[in-house]
Amino acid sequence: MTSSIDNARRTLEARASGLVFPQGFVFGAATAAYQIEGAHDADGKGESIWDRFCHVPGVIVDGSSGDVACDHYHRWKEDIAVLKALGLGAYRFSFAWTRLLPDGRGDANAMGIAFYDRLIDDLLEAGIEPYATLYHWDLPQALQERGGWYSRETAAAFADYAGLAARSFGDRVKKWTTLNEPWTFCWSGHATGEDAPGLRDGVKGGVSASHHALLGHGLAVPVIRAEVADASVGIVFDLNVAEAATSDPSDATAALRFDGAQNRWFLDAVFKGAYPQDMLALYGDLLPPIHARDNEIIAAPVDYLGINIYRRSVIAAGDELAPLSYRRVQPEGIYSAVDYEIWPRSMYDILRYVNDRYAPPAIYISENGVATTPEKVGEDGHVWDDLRAAYYVDHLEQVAKAAAEGVPVRGYFAWTLTDNFEWAYGYTTPFGITHVDFATQQRHIKYSGEVYAMIARQETAPV
Ligand code: NOJ
Repeated sequence: MTSSIDNARRTLEARASGLVFPQGFVFGAATAAYQIEGAHDADGKGESIWDRFCHVPGVIVDGSSGDVACDHYHRWKEDIAVLKALGLGAYRFSFAWTRLLPDGRGDANAMGIAFYDRLIDDLLEAGIEPYATLYHWDLPQALQERGGWYSRETAAAFADYAGLAARSFGDRVKKWTTLNEPWTFCWSGHATGEDAPGLRDGVKGGVSASHHALLGHGLAVPVIRAEVADASVGIVFDLNVAEAATSDPSDATAALRFDGAQNRWFLDAVFKGAYPQDMLALYGDLLPPIHARDNEIIAAPVDYLGINIYRRSVIAAGDELAPLSYRRVQPEGIYSAVDYEIWPRSMYDILRYVNDRYAPPAIYISENGVATTPEKVGEDGHVWDDLRAAYYVDHLEQVAKAAAEGVPVRGYFAWTLTDNFEWAYGYTTPFGITHVDFATQQRHIKYSGEVYAMIARQETAPV
């Protein structure tokens, strides 16, 4: 006899199998160095701001760190085997800046380069295309001590580091992302302090870090192109459409300010060559010095935009981060373990928003996924994460809808390949499509991974 849960699974699987994507659409999974690698001081690696931050008592909910994480540094072959078992054609990962340049600049660490050589070679051997990200939040501590993202020097050091990485790996890596989620690492790291380096400098800190990070991006783009003639170079933003909580005009203007801070500030700078006027006026004296050529540098043409999308933002007037002065409203609904509302339509909405206003040449969904509380492998040998499996089908339906309307979305990366270190949440809110038993480091593909693999294995249709 089949139970209602079996029926629900068969229905979900049928929906998964019915999804159609344009020809050549890329399916992958994403990770980030600090969240998976561990080996935090192995083989000459230098200290990053996350290595430092996690050791401050009380900042990570379970008191953990990425010191060991998934021990990917030693188990990369197992993780490539998981990618292969899932049938994924692409893998998005990041380089740990401090593995390649322990002090952020100066002499390269040959053992760090050798690790990524092995990873890249084994990926290619397995038929999986590497999508490399240069900066996924782990700034060298040595650079933090010289001002970090408040300093133009860091932007210049980032471009030099990009050059080293491109020179070292560009013969095999063709997809290059400069920064991952500048909104989050600049604001959570410098305005509100939940993330490294843990500064609580309010709007002034968030804007200064954002400008210098974007400058670093703009300086790095031509450096990568000079090293890798056939590189495809882009940037990843965490975006979502901001909706006003009510029809009250004060909520509408708060939503517009929030949209300005999270979305338009970054998108306008890269795709229009100037920061939005309303935000420049709002930030006023809180702005860092912006030099004459900065706008032009930041607007260096990119080949694609990566979008990380997890939720929508429902915004009301409030007292967060004056003069942004907003409040996030949590409408009634279903929420993930990190308190994000599960709202599949946010996927379609952001794809249309970005395409209709900025028309990037190509778009990737560079991250999308959902957190749960920690799971276990059951006695039947499965991890039945039905909520996550449904999340992927629901969100990929919205991607397919936008693609069918002509939005140039070229690929999708599940966040994340394996359970890992979820920043300030430590190991309490896993996002993986693969379970990791952190006591034994055993990997086990979850039900969501099986369902995602069904989608990824399909033939794509001609456009
Ligand atoms: C986006 C970040 O890029 C990633 O590092 C993080 O784990 C996920 N969001 C989930 O919060």
